[in-house]
Amino acid sequence: MNVNIFYSMKVNKICCIGAGYVGGPTMAVIALKCPNIEVTVVDINPKRIDAWNGPLEDLPVYEPGLREVVAESRGKNLFFSNDINAAIDRADMIFMAVNTPTKTEGEGAGMAADLKNIEACAKNIAQVSKSDKIIVEKSTLPVRTAEKIKEILGEYGRDDVQFEILSNPEFLAEGTAIQDLFKSDRVLIGGDQTDSGQKAVQALVEIYANWIPEEKILTTNVWSSELAKLASNAMLAQRISSINSLSALCEKTGANIDELSKAIGMDNRIGPKFLKVSVGFGGSCFQKDILNIVYLCKYYGLKEVAEYWHQVIKINDYQKNRFAQKIIDDLGGDLRGKKIAILGWAFKANTNDSRESPAIYVTKKLVDSGANVKIFDPLVSLSIIMRDIEDFGININACSISYNIEECINAVDLVAILTETQAYKDLGKDFSIYDGRGINKEAKYTIGK
Ligand code: NAD
Ligand code: UGA
Repeated sequence: MNVNIFYSMKVNKICCIGAGYVGGPTMAVIALKCPNIEVTVVDINPKRIDAWNGPLEDLPVYEPGLREVVAESRGKNLFFSNDINAAIDRADMIFMAVNTPTKTEGEGAGMAADLKNIEACAKNIAQVSKSDKIIVEKSTLPVRTAEKIKEILGEYGRDDVQFEILSNPEFLAEGTAIQDLFKSDRVLIGGDQTDSGQKAVQALVEIYANWIPEEKILTTNVWSSELAKLASNAMLAQRISSINSLSALCEKTGANIDELSKAIGMDNRIGPKFLKVSVGFGGSCFQKDILNIVYLCKYYGLKEVAEYWHQVIKINDYQKNRFAQKIIDDLGGDLRGKKIAILGWAFKANTNDSRESPAIYVTKKLVDSGANVKIFDPLVSLSIIMRDIEDFGININACSISYNIEECINAVDLVAILTETQAYKDLGKDFSIYDGRGINKEAKYTIGK
């Protein structure tokens, strides 16, 4: 029977395609807060699904509080499965939370978002669906992607099946994902301004209303929602690049970057958040999303706007390079025979994610200058560090991986702090400390000071 979900507006079964950093935690929280909805998370990567079904201490994503949330619902109304088609078939509502990295080839390579995973999902949904479905863009996507999804659904779907497409971007930050999902600043839902579009929006609003106050649920048209996600990330990254650019000026003038951040942030109109100096921002999204905006602006002929946003990335590259170069210069240029401890491999504290981590970039530059490095991160696995070393062409013979801080900082010439992990606050004085996060009071060099 073809059940019309738009008419009933009641969602009983959710499928989420993509069991990564977004799909896993967001669906675990929806399952927890909506015990009457059955939530199935699927993925093409069987290892990821096995890990989600495995011991709680080995979930594929590390997030404070995640284990407890998964433990509460897994096997009751939260399921992780490899059977993508069965989960699509059963669902009233399907979230697409697949990765959308920067394109590496073809038109827009190095800038535009690669939508092949989203397109594959749309095709799969179209071919499998026998009843009406609400499709939710959870991945971060270029503005007007819903148009492309609609085309694919039209081409491959059955004539008697109706789809509505919503945009519901995710704003969680890694390391605080569960907290962010429990108490979101806002939930954004974009839908078509048609009757069935608005009913679909309402169906999703009702899900979030189980724990998010109504005034924090913002509904818009699809394009505003898609673009607001990219723009939010761009503006957060812009603040970091602004403060990081000023850190270079502080070093020249004797101003102190922390004092500067505090003074600036006390202006209510500016606010104190996202003004912490660093060795540069990392993570899988800021760079890719800004590049995506740059690409979109160029596509629409907005050259000046494209250049403006591109500067945010250029300053970030400058900052990572500046930190590594400072170490190289202070050690006399030739680092052969020097041993350097790299503390922190992830892109920030409290996550096991190392995508676009400044640590990778800094390590490559130090190793290319002749250094031997010892790497320590309490959360990133050996296999991920090895993968990054290989992917970024870092000489593996110059790298070793330590299992504890003591071993890592033993008998080194210099320690580089690259994440703001609390354990790096107090390290002793047997070596020079170069602090890219402004957390160690005994550092010989702290970025921005
Ligand atoms: P991820 O790489 O951790 O997870 C994506 C998953 O999708 C992978 O496990 C992959 O195997 C799976 N997948 C890809 N194509 C598939 C297909 N056709 N069928 C089934 N599974 C498929 O990515 P992520 O970090 O969770 O990010 C997902 C999206 O969310 C991206 O668009 C990202 O920009 C956005 N986002 C990420 C974060 C974050 O903190 N990581 C926050 C907000 C938004
Ligand atoms: C970021 C956004 O904060 C989320 O809202 C968004 O959902 C997400 O991107 C996404 O779309 O993927 P995330 O990258 O997980 O979240 O983490 P952030 O806390 O934003 O940190 C990003 C980078 O900026 C890290 O390397 C961090 O160390 C750095 N940072 C952050 C600074 O250097 N200074 C700051 O003041 C804040």
